[in-house]
Amino acid sequence: MKISLRYLLLPLLWAIGCAATPIGTAVLEKRTLQNFTAIGDKFYHIEETLRVNWFRASNICRQLGGFLVNLASEEELQALSRQLHPAQSYWLSLYDLAETGVYASQATGTNAQFLRWSAGQPDNIGGVEHCIQLWMSGSTFQMNDAQCEMPFHFVCESY
Ligand SMILES: *[C@@H]1O[C@H](CO)[C@@H](O)[C@H](O)[C@H]1NC(C)=O
Repeated sequence: MKISLRYLLLPLLWAIGCAATPIGTAVLEKRTLQNFTAIGDKFYHIEETLRVNWFRASNICRQLGGFLVNLASEEELQALSRQLHPAQSYWLSLYDLAETGVYASQATGTNAQFLRWSAGQPDNIGGVEHCIQLWMSGSTFQMNDAQCEMPFHFVCESY
């Protein structure tokens, strides 16, 4: 009796131990995707309720487990654009606060990989437009420089 009980208990304890260990890729993947939805090859959170300045948008993205979106290609812009509301504007991770005229991504820490300016932009009106948003220009979403303190919707991206 003793022996058979041990044979029953050991695999059970082993199974409990495994279940409690948060190592499996499935577990990690599920965590990464929390708060984000797949669009194209990436995972985004499109904030359609809050309108906040660029800095708050960046902080909220961090709280959600991501960062302000970095668009790396025309394909990514197209895929994301289909999910955005045409009458709204959305903050991106791009800014030129560190060096005027040099557009860097807060998401990557490097210069912008991809820029799609709308006609006449960036114009840095009043010398105070240092954060980049997507806005509807004609029939497509394109980039515009805006004042970082202004409240807009925003898009976060997850790892
Ligand atoms: C999802 O968002 C909530 C609210 O900000 C946050 O508490 C939670 O940690 C986020 N999930 C991840 C995986 O970061």
